Amino acid sequence: MNLDSPASDLAYQSGFGNEFASEALPGALPVGQNSPQKAPYGLYAELFSGTAFTMARSEARRTWMYRIRPSANHPAFTRLERQLAGGALGDVTPNRLRWNPLEVPAEPTDFLDGLVRMAANASVDKPAGISVYHYGANRSMERVFFNADGEWLIVPQLGRLRIATELGVLELAPLEIAVLPRGLKFRVELLDPQARGYLAENHGAPLRLPDLGPIGSNGLANPRDFMTPVAHYENLTQPTTLVQKFLGELWGCELGHSPLDVVAWHGNNVPYKYDLRRFNTLGTVSFDHPDPSIFTVLTSPTSVHGLANLDFVIFPPRWMVAEKTFRPPWFHRNLMNEFMGLIQGAYDAKAEGFLPGGASLHSCMSAHGPDGETCTRAINADLQPAKIDNTMAFMFETSQVLRPSRFALDCPQRQTDYDACWASLPVTFDPTRR
Ligand SMILES: [Fe+2]
Repeated sequence: MNLDSPASDLAYQSGFGNEFASEALPGALPVGQNSPQKAPYGLYAELFSGTAFTMARSEARRTWMYRIRPSANHPAFTRLERQLAGGALGDVTPNRLRWNPLEVPAEPTDFLDGLVRMAANASVDKPAGISVYHYGANRSMERVFFNADGEWLIVPQLGRLRIATELGVLELAPLEIAVLPRGLKFRVELLDPQARGYLAENHGAPLRLPDLGPIGSNGLANPRDFMTPVAHYENLTQPTTLVQKFLGELWGCELGHSPLDVVAWHGNNVPYKYDLRRFNTLGTVSFDHPDPSIFTVLTSPTSVHGLANLDFVIFPPRWMVAEKTFRPPWFHRNLMNEFMGLIQGAYDAKAEGFLPGGASLHSCMSAHGPDGETCTRAINADLQPAKIDNTMAFMFETSQVLRPSRFALDCPQRQTDYDACWASLPVTFDPTRR
C-alpha cells in the first residue's frame, strides 16, 4: 500500500444520516472509544460538530476524525484581497426576475473565484436563511477551502467535478447534487474543461429528508440512494493555501501540508451526493396535481413546523395523466420565495426564455405561472397520457424574501422584459357561454 497517496478507489457508503465509519488504513479507527490516549498509527483524534452538543439526538450531527495533524495546527488567517463576487446586496424588489445563463469566465478561474452571489436572505451572523450562488470555473482549485457560514448544496449544470474532502472523494456530474457540511475542508477539481452550476448556502438547520406522511415508508428520495465517501487521505508536505469564508468574507493562511489528512473517521456530519434520476417522482393519477412540495428532495426546517428555511425541489421527467386538468404548474401567489434553475431541457411552465444555466426569482406574493403560449396550449390540448422527458428544473424555496445582489440586478444576463411573457394571456371570459 502506498502510504503517501493510498489508492482508495472512489467508493461510497449508502444511506442518509447514518453513523458511518470508514478507515483508509486497517485498524486506523479506534474501537470502543472516540479519543484514546494513543490513537492508532500515531493519529490525532478531532471532533467535528455540525450542531450544538446539546441538540436532540435526532438532530445532532458530528463526526470523529483521526488525522495526521489536528486542524488547530495552522497560522493566523488574513483577509484575502480578492473577495467573492456579488458580495454587495442590491435593493429589495417585488418584481419577478429572470436571467440568461452566466458564461463561464475565459480567464483562469477556479471554483472559488468563479462563485457569484445572486441573492440572499440571511444576516450572516444569524443561523438562518440561505444565500444563492452561481459558479463558473475552468480550472481546478489548488487551495483548500472551508465555509464557516453554512452547508453547501451544489447543483452542477455543466461539467463534472471531483470534490476531495476531509472525509473522502465525491465525483459529481450534472443531474447529481452534493451537500458539504458547514466547516468541512475540501478542494473542487474539474474533470472537464468547464464547470458551471448553482449553489445554495444553507445557514439554517442542516438539510435532511422530508417526512413522508401519508405517502408511507418509501418514495421521493430514498435514503439508500445517498452516497457518502469512504476515507481517503493525502500525506503531503507541500505549501497549501487554506481559505475559509467567515461571515461572508474570505480569509486565508499558508500551510506546509495538505489539510485533507484524515485517515479514518466515524459519524453522521458528512458530505454526500445524490443522483436526481433516482428520485421516485409521485403525482396524480386522477385529476389536478399536488403542490410542488411533492417534489421535495431535501429540506432545512425552521422552528415553525412545516415552514422551511430551504426546500430543495426538483421538476424531473414524469408522466402527465391527469384528466380534465390544466396540466402545467398553475398560476399562483405564494408565501414562499422561489429561486429556480434549469439543469437540462425545458421547464413545462415556460415555452422559452428559461434556459439551462439560467435562473428566475419569484418572491413572496409575486404572481407567476405559465407564460401565455404554454397556457393557451394547455387549455386547448387534447389530453392524453404524455411524458415530460429530458428535463430537470429545480427550486430553492425559502421562507424569507431573497434580496438580489447588486451584481444580479445589474448584469447583462438579466432579462429586463421578463414580465412580457405573461402579456399575451388572452381574456377568454364570455358571460354568455358557460
Ligand atoms: Fe412558483
